[in-house]
Amino acid sequence: MAEPKPNPPVRLTHMSANLETVVVLAAGEGTRMKSSTPKVLHEVAGRSLVGHVLHAVQSLKPKQVRVVVGAGREAVESHLAEIAPTVTTIFQERRGGTGHATQLALADLKLAGTILILASDTPLLTSGSLQQLLDLHHAGGFTASVLTAEHPDPTGYGRIVRADDGSLLRIVEERDADDFEKAIYEVNSGVYAFDAHKLSAAIGKLNDNNSQGELYLTDVIEILRNEGGTIAAALIEDFVEILGVNDRVQLAESAALMRDQINEGFMRAGVTIVDPTTTWIDATAKIENDVTIYPGTAILGQTTIATGAVIGPRAVLESCTVLSGATIIESNCFEATIGKGANVGPYSYLRKDTVLGTDSKAGAFVEMKNAKVGDGSKVPHLSYVGDATIGEGTNIGAATIFVNYDGVEKHHTTVGDHVRIGSDSMLVAPLTIGDGAYTAAGSVITEDVPAGAMGVARGRQRNVIGWVMRKRSGTQSAKSAEAAEAAARHSDEKKG
Ligand code: UD1
Ligand code: CA
Repeated sequence: MAEPKPNPPVRLTHMSANLETVVVLAAGEGTRMKSSTPKVLHEVAGRSLVGHVLHAVQSLKPKQVRVVVGAGREAVESHLAEIAPTVTTIFQERRGGTGHATQLALADLKLAGTILILASDTPLLTSGSLQQLLDLHHAGGFTASVLTAEHPDPTGYGRIVRADDGSLLRIVEERDADDFEKAIYEVNSGVYAFDAHKLSAAIGKLNDNNSQGELYLTDVIEILRNEGGTIAAALIEDFVEILGVNDRVQLAESAALMRDQINEGFMRAGVTIVDPTTTWIDATAKIENDVTIYPGTAILGQTTIATGAVIGPRAVLESCTVLSGATIIESNCFEATIGKGANVGPYSYLRKDTVLGTDSKAGAFVEMKNAKVGDGSKVPHLSYVGDATIGEGTNIGAATIFVNYDGVEKHHTTVGDHVRIGSDSMLVAPLTIGDGAYTAAGSVITEDVPAGAMGVARGRQRNVIGWVMRKRSGTQSAKSAEAAEAAARHSDEKKG
């Protein structure tokens, strides 16, 4: 089929008015996944398999969506309640096949208009192709229309058997096909549009006379045809769209294809992706133009990245907000906000509720959690900042630890504007460091430091003169020290 028509508003309204019901079949065991997670909850590009199908269905604006659930019912239902609260679920207690699942879905349905039926394991299916199937179905006034594709390796799919005149005769499953039928490359996508009345009259006539002893929805095509119905097969150009996920190999294949599609979309929209094969962006992420992404990077969940940001190499961002011009190198960030022009990494770990201000920095080997870092403030090296508020223009010296946990509870630390925290400070919360204050390097600060004060909390230094010569005589250290002493004596003598 050709590309979706760019501007068909009148027809679209008319078509949507006809799309009464969508039924998504999601009750299968997914045996081939060998998983304790129901198959339809496995994810591709950050969205469940069933989530992808429902996402494609959404833009068709059907009056109602019914999802048939069975295997892993509770998990699937609670997932659906989260991602698509308006769908109705129907319980298929015994897996009697796609035909049986459809019978249950139709049981108490107000039968009018068109019904669209889909499997839940075809994540690459687009709403454009669904719309085209519906357009064809309505334009030709067909009883049933099946979405098909020519697959270079049709193994495992139902084959499309056409009559001499090209019309669709029937669909035969791989296991029930003879050698002649197995040689057919055109396969069933598992997506169908039906005249709801006629489908419901025919669906009761299915039998389980097949290799799996199940009721096949595919058999309804031949029944409808024999009753004088007209059947269309809509062949889509790109077979990738109809790829079903039945095992982990197909899961990885679909994920790689979707990665390529997502990356291509962003590149065409002006994002530089240096190595698209090692860049994984979830379907839910948003990235503006002139962002640069280096290899080995994953951009996950609801992450948004504003223009001019530079991400990677090897950065993982999950549900983060990255503002314009920020740089994130080789770091892990989760539910964090990275301010305009801020610098992160290498090797930083920013956890939930970290908010970095404009031009701020979380440098090498820095971990943060529930921490607000003010504009222009820097935490450049080797620090942990937990449960803290840091003002503007402040510098946190290397290896400073915000000691937020007393073993029972977490406590907060507030650091003011233009503060200088000395290297290797322990800031023991609850604590407040006033504006412009300093702390001495190596201090364990347990009490508030007022604005402008220098907080010192460490042992005073004492030098035990000659200790090395006495206690370590004969060592290289002692020899060096003796030589230094001799040289000092010599120069003192010269000075006279
Ligand atoms: C099905 C089609 C096949 C098509 C392929 C496309 C049938 C008989 N075969 O085969 O022609 O080429 O999809 O991917 O329809 N399900 C239920 N209840 C059941 C059984 C299945 O809800 O009792 C659901 C599954 O969760 C799945 C969908 O129906 O989402 C298809 O079932 P699956 O077992 O994956 O069918 P295939 O063997 O792939
Ligand atoms: Ca399947």
